[in-house]
Amino acid sequence: MGKLSATLAHEIRNPLSALKLNLNYLKMSEEEFDPEVIECLNSCVEAADRIQDLIENTLEFSRTPTKDEKEISINEISIQAVDILTGTAKKKNIGIISELSETIPMVLINKNKILQVFINLITNAIDASDKNSMITLRSYLNSKKDVIFEIEDKGVGISEEAKEKIFTDFYTNKRNGTGLGLSVCKKLLEESKCEISFESEENNGTKFRILFPKIITI
Ligand SMILES: Nc1ncnc2c1ncn2[C@@H]1O[C@H](COP(=O)(O)OP(=O)(O)OP(=O)(O)O)[C@@H](O)[C@H]1O
Ligand SMILES: [Mg+2]
Repeated sequence: MGKLSATLAHEIRNPLSALKLNLNYLKMSEEEFDPEVIECLNSCVEAADRIQDLIENTLEFSRTPTKDEKEISINEISIQAVDILTGTAKKKNIGIISELSETIPMVLINKNKILQVFINLITNAIDASDKNSMITLRSYLNSKKDVIFEIEDKGVGISEEAKEKIFTDFYTNKRNGTGLGLSVCKKLLEESKCEISFESEENNGTKFRILFPKIITI
């Protein structure tokens, strides 16, 4: 099953790239279209992005671990993730606030993996949040000089019972969820020796925290 889904996901990737490229091309001439056409176009872009996320998570789920890490800036990846998800957040009028420390060092990780993790966590935060609320992204150095990244929402929170299960493959309580988002995050982060934890209170919000290992220079 793993092999079949990975093959399928892989094969969908190319036509999906073509679809997204053409949609982006159409969006460039947006001002020439009627509002209904623009709305259709935006729905198509959103649907294509959703397929892309599913494909990436399915591929990550069945991929064998690789080590292709470089020194990267967490803040830059965070900004990229926000760019990708701004449209989705805007639909619910959710603001994303970035409180990024300029003084944190680079971390050793694969850029695409951490982008995928940030997208999965911010998407969950958007899903959990009410309209007109705020999500905060924070990077900082803790007292032990570890680089920390946090995603905090003021949404529905996670029940005590669900807290035990959220990292389990295919656990979801969403109508259209696959339940792969968090298990893929955990897998990707463990491969790079990062730690993920969370605090959550029902009806009060959730904070996911990632701790990146220090780069040891000899
Ligand atoms: N920020 C959050 N606030 C509240 N509940 C959350 C949050 N993040 C995750 N959850 C809960 O954990 C479950 C599992 O999350 P996960 O990302 O693995 O799957 P999903 O979002 O349901 O589906 P998908 O595969 O599309 O990501 C969610 O269905 C939700 O119940
Ligand atoms: Mg998810």
